[in-house]
Amino acid sequence: MAIDRSDREFHFTDKDFAVIKDLIYKRAGINLSESKKDMVYSRLSRRLRANGLRTFKQYLNLLNDPSSHEQQEFINSLTTNLTSFFRESHHFDILKDFLVSRESPVRIWCCAASTGEEPYSIAMACIEHYQSFTPPVEIYASDLDTKVLAKAEKGIYPVERVERLSDQRLKSFFFRGKADNSGLVKVKPELQKLIRYFPLNLLDNQWPFKLQFDVIFCRNVMIYFDKQTQYQVLKQFLPYLKDDGLLFAGHSESFPQASDLFSLRKHTVYVKADKARIKS
Ligand SMILES: C[S@@+](CC[C@H](N)C(=O)[O-])C[C@H]1O[C@@H](n2cnc3c(N)ncnc32)[C@H](O)[C@@H]1O
Repeated sequence: MAIDRSDREFHFTDKDFAVIKDLIYKRAGINLSESKKDMVYSRLSRRLRANGLRTFKQYLNLLNDPSSHEQQEFINSLTTNLTSFFRESHHFDILKDFLVSRESPVRIWCCAASTGEEPYSIAMACIEHYQSFTPPVEIYASDLDTKVLAKAEKGIYPVERVERLSDQRLKSFFFRGKADNSGLVKVKPELQKLIRYFPLNLLDNQWPFKLQFDVIFCRNVMIYFDKQTQYQVLKQFLPYLKDDGLLFAGHSESFPQASDLFSLRKHTVYVKADKARIKS
């Protein structure tokens, strides 16, 4: 049954959606299904309002204007940033076990860091493992979305975001806001010092590192990519991951098409495939 959308504030055609779908795929690798039309309309309507525009056609023209800053806002609007502290908590136990045998400094890259809960969880796990607020660890945290990265760097969260953490973790790693800041928590500066934040698009064909990582966290971002893009990104990880390093993926992500690059060790944790070790 066709749904009547005539009550919409902005006229939004199937062609507009097709152009947007193509643009976000090319710029971010995000593969939008037809079911995302309403989501796209609602998120981009805000951008039309912010720019004082009246039609999607005008908005798409703005995106083609090289002097406009709207491109980044467009990307920020269409990313999905759902995350939480110690999401898929077994991964942090696996990380701690892995740290036992590593030489320092241990370098960890969290490549879809969103609002920071994941890199801060990595930092907490490292502090707990080494029993020190200055563990021999460097954490690099990136994301394509500049808005979430700014939130991550601040490290301030509504108290509900931490309510499933143990009292011990809350006490060790967070300050509770008082007065005007009640209802908020802030991560302690010792954690922030362990993490370097920077924008990075996994689709870029060059990344700005001259080093190799012991661990790459790439969780719950590949699900937005098609198989071909996933393969490309995984291939590009190879020279940046030590031969005996670990790649953490999200719980619903698997890469059978890339079995020449990575092999599953357990619980969506991957290691380089034998052949890939020799080549990279
Ligand atoms: C659902 S969140 C996952 C956050 C975290 N890794 C976790 O598992 O909780 C996906 C993140 O991937 C980021 N992202 C999407 N496309 C990207 C790309 N091409 N390059 C880098 N990050 C991307 C989004 O901005 C978003 O913050």
